[in-house]
Amino acid sequence: MQQSPIIILGIESSCDDTSAAILKDGKILANIIANQDVHEAYGGVVPELASRAHQQNIIPVVDKAIKQAGITKDDIDAIAFTNGPGLMGSLLVGSSFSKAFALAMDIPLVEVNHMHGHVLAHFIDEENTPKPSFPFLCLTVSGGHTQIVKITDYFKMEVLGETIDDAAGEAFDKVAKMLSLPYPGGPVLDKLAQLGNPNKFTFTHPKVPDLNYSFSGLKTSVLYFLKKEIKTNPNFIEENLNDICASVQKTIVDILLIELKKAIKQTDIQQIAIAGGVSANSELRKRLASFSKDYQIYIPKMEYCTDNAAMIAISGYYKYLEQDFTVQGIAPNARMKI
Ligand code: KG4
Ligand code: ZN
Repeated sequence: MQQSPIIILGIESSCDDTSAAILKDGKILANIIANQDVHEAYGGVVPELASRAHQQNIIPVVDKAIKQAGITKDDIDAIAFTNGPGLMGSLLVGSSFSKAFALAMDIPLVEVNHMHGHVLAHFIDEENTPKPSFPFLCLTVSGGHTQIVKITDYFKMEVLGETIDDAAGEAFDKVAKMLSLPYPGGPVLDKLAQLGNPNKFTFTHPKVPDLNYSFSGLKTSVLYFLKKEIKTNPNFIEENLNDICASVQKTIVDILLIELKKAIKQTDIQQIAIAGGVSANSELRKRLASFSKDYQIYIPKMEYCTDNAAMIAISGYYKYLEQDFTVQGIAPNARMKI
């Protein structure tokens, strides 16, 4: 007898993107993301404004996902949502909606760790996209995280190294802000960097033990470097913008890859993935793709790099298969660990 397909509604609202996705047996039927322009004027995410915007976006985004997937709400077998880490007010909107939906539709509720979601995005069924097998290493790089993670099963993840201060995405965003680039700075800096000379300026690397990272020193050294140059040439930034972006981007990617290579050596694991918003970075993708042919490299499709509900739906699917459901009393955990 043929089994009926499993349909999961995924909800992501941990930061400033409201997203809903519909997944049918591992394949994405819809992945709708509403970005929040309201933060642009402030040069960063304002938590209170983010939760208000989630409130406005959540129902239209879910409605659009259901329509685009060509299903009805009665076809949904379970709802999976991000329960942390993230901004508490933002998480509350997604979790409250999901609890109410599960209760009203009498379907299971599945909680998902946002960082698991980034990693498990690699298991979305896509044509011509091979999935990693266990064990593999994943460099998870986002606005809030920079970690080297060893994955031995869908939900068995061990952090081998991580940043002791700023995340890589934060470094991109903060340097972009110093250069007066619009928010969010990472993707803008990446675009300009592609037109510049990455070897024009050099910045020192941090000295951090083990497989850990640090990016706060880089931020400070870029700041002092700019201040010094502007003293002698007030137009220094305008005249050298592309080269500054390319040089900073190269430094961040160099730092990321040095530790990753050490982790590969230490673990002897040769399946390597990247995940999270910074995995959209062109330099990181290019450099990783040119890694030794001895390694198998997994680079997510662009739409699954930055925050999205497809990654939450696929994580929910694997939990659904294990009947790993949660309860109505569950509360979001803003500081949830991987
Ligand atoms: O995973 P994500 O969407 O949200 C978090 O969970 O934090 O990551 C957002 C981060 C931001 O810091 C953003 O500037 C950065 O990812 N980012 C990039 C690029 N695209 C997004 N950084 C560098 N180059 C990019 N192309
Ligand atoms: Zn994220």
